[in-house]
Amino acid sequence: MKLKHYLQFNDLNADEYAYLLTRAAFIKAKFKAFEKHQPFADPDRTLALIFEKASTRTRVSFEAGMYQLGGSVVHLTTGDSQLGRAEPIEDSAKVISRMVDMVMIRTYEQSKIEAFAAHSRVPVINGLTNEFHPCQILADLFTLVEHRPAASGNPLDALKGKVVAWVGDGNNMANTWLQAAELLGFTVHVSTPSGYEVDPRLAGISNAGCYKVFKDPKEACKGADLVTTDVWTSMGFEAENEVRRAAFSQWCVDEAMMAVAKPDAIFMHCLPAHRGEEVSAEVIDGPQSVVWDEAENRMHAQKALMEYLLLGQLG
Ligand code: CP
Ligand code: NVA
Repeated sequence: MKLKHYLQFNDLNADEYAYLLTRAAFIKAKFKAFEKHQPFADPDRTLALIFEKASTRTRVSFEAGMYQLGGSVVHLTTGDSQLGRAEPIEDSAKVISRMVDMVMIRTYEQSKIEAFAAHSRVPVINGLTNEFHPCQILADLFTLVEHRPAASGNPLDALKGKVVAWVGDGNNMANTWLQAAELLGFTVHVSTPSGYEVDPRLAGISNAGCYKVFKDPKEACKGADLVTTDVWTSMGFEAENEVRRAAFSQWCVDEAMMAVAKPDAIFMHCLPAHRGEEVSAEVIDGPQSVVWDEAENRMHAQKALMEYLLLGQLG
């Protein structure tokens, strides 16, 4: 099989997403029925998990997911490996990828994961960089399709034409939403404070029709099928915390914003969340919130992704 990496959302095409979203539902159903699904058991496959930033969901979902698939994991951080002692990323990639079957990396610059992938013999998965968080958007799309399926049963039909309101920072999540919208045919309504806008060039967006920019976050939520947000300060930007707190004070998803979205709109947040900052407690803990399904779906979606990157389409 040709070596495939998942470094950005648009590393896969629409047909591959149709397959992955369908496969994730199949894998989730098996998990819920306590049925074994172990394509990585024989021969045993190993995933290296490399974390240069903190994580709860990404670590647990990849680690538990890999064991459920019959494989095993090796966990590395900057602090407990030679990565933190300036071993070149290219050398680390050459060594690690001779011993494992797949690598997931959470790091700072996208250029770092690209350098690793360029020297890796095995698939590399982006577990979050400063620029992108493709695994999260894959899980978010799976969650949206699960909650609002199409009559045809085709996940791409469920996504086509949808409106996703992004309220907050023009960060790694926002960039990845833009890529998903362009590829899968929905629209993102983006509202950020000035100075924190999305950068469509960074996301590589050529179709400006896939997103609309709104000064007023409430305007962005009007008619949305999904309202979503993220922390005001992403990992690596902690020094800007106070400045951001002031700049983002009007970008809190509250009940007034949800009230102008579609009556059956849902709310998502990749988590961790700060109640009273980017989202009110009433919204994240309210009836339109699907954040716990969203978090769980990281595991099911990534199991489908890992299976696909190593074994191709099955079933
Ligand atoms: N959403 C997400 O990636 O969470 P963690 O930082 O806990 O992995
Ligand atoms: N934008 C956030 C997402 C955390 C999962 C960050 O990069 O810290």
